[in-house]
Amino acid sequence: MILTGKKGVIFGASNKYSIAWGIAKQLHLHGAEFILSVENEKSINKLKKLMEEHSIKTDICICDVTDETSISNLKNAVASKFEKIDFVVHSIAYAPPESLQNSLINTKWEHFAQTLHISTYSLINIIREFKDILSENSSIITLSFLGSNRIVPGYDIMGIAKAALESSVKYLSHNLSSSNTRVNALSPSPINTVSARGVKNLKEMMHKVSDLSLLKDEINIDTVGTNAVYLLSDLSKGVTGQIIFVDSGYHNLGVL
Ligand SMILES: NC(=O)c1ccc[n+]([C@@H]2O[C@H](COP(=O)([O-])OP(=O)(O)OC[C@H]3O[C@@H](n4cnc5c(N)ncnc54)[C@H](O)[C@@H]3O)[C@@H](O)[C@H]2O)c1
Repeated sequence: MILTGKKGVIFGASNKYSIAWGIAKQLHLHGAEFILSVENEKSINKLKKLMEEHSIKTDICICDVTDETSISNLKNAVASKFEKIDFVVHSIAYAPPESLQNSLINTKWEHFAQTLHISTYSLINIIREFKDILSENSSIITLSFLGSNRIVPGYDIMGIAKAALESSVKYLSHNLSSSNTRVNALSPSPINTVSARGVKNLKEMMHKVSDLSLLKDEINIDTVGTNAVYLLSDLSKGVTGQIIFVDSGYHNLGVL
């Protein structure tokens, strides 16, 4: 129960496949209290059922991260429940399907802007809004992917968003260092989630990565969750501005 006494917000759980749901389950098992922030009404019923199955009792709030008022309303709801929080999990990404089907060179500005707004700027925006209710020594995590700095065919526009997200992690870790707030990213192998299904050849990619990876296993949302437990706990004190791969060593391989 290394997270006992820690309180926070988890963004991005929509259904049982969501990485944020895998994180929520593990944080609960380790004693954390949290509010789940979801994009829309649709996710609420799905999550309520899952929460019942796992005996998780928590509030669910709706927050569309493209809407400033929605973020500030959520912050007020979090502040009135917890006063101060110790962690934020940002597990959000979106690219219009058309832009994921096209190569980067054909990406329209409005699709580029929307992808970066939701997948990257939302982290900055959320942290700015929540800054005054973060306790000293708090920890923030986001989710990235290897396509941020390697060519992963089909990931195109999202690769740009993840490159900017990873850079944001580093600058935010500097911006927040005076309050000892740590900012890190987990970068897992491909996992079969609703968002990931928008990337061409997802299943093929998953098999390839697990076959080639050093530890030869497929990463699932629970494994990402246990790594989140570490990063959000005091066990990871001193770790900030890092992109931590949860990919069984795959990212270290050269072209074989
Ligand atoms: N699945 C993978 O293979 C994989 C690998 C590495 C990193 N990631 C990253 O993990 C994170 C979570 O993705 P996932 O795979 O669990 O898929 P998911 O579809 O379960 O989660 C994406 C979440 O983003 C939310 N979202 C989108 N637009 C939003 C908005 N305007 N306001 C609020 N929320 C919004 C969705 O509601 C959803 O809950 C993403 O950042 C993704 O890029 C996924």
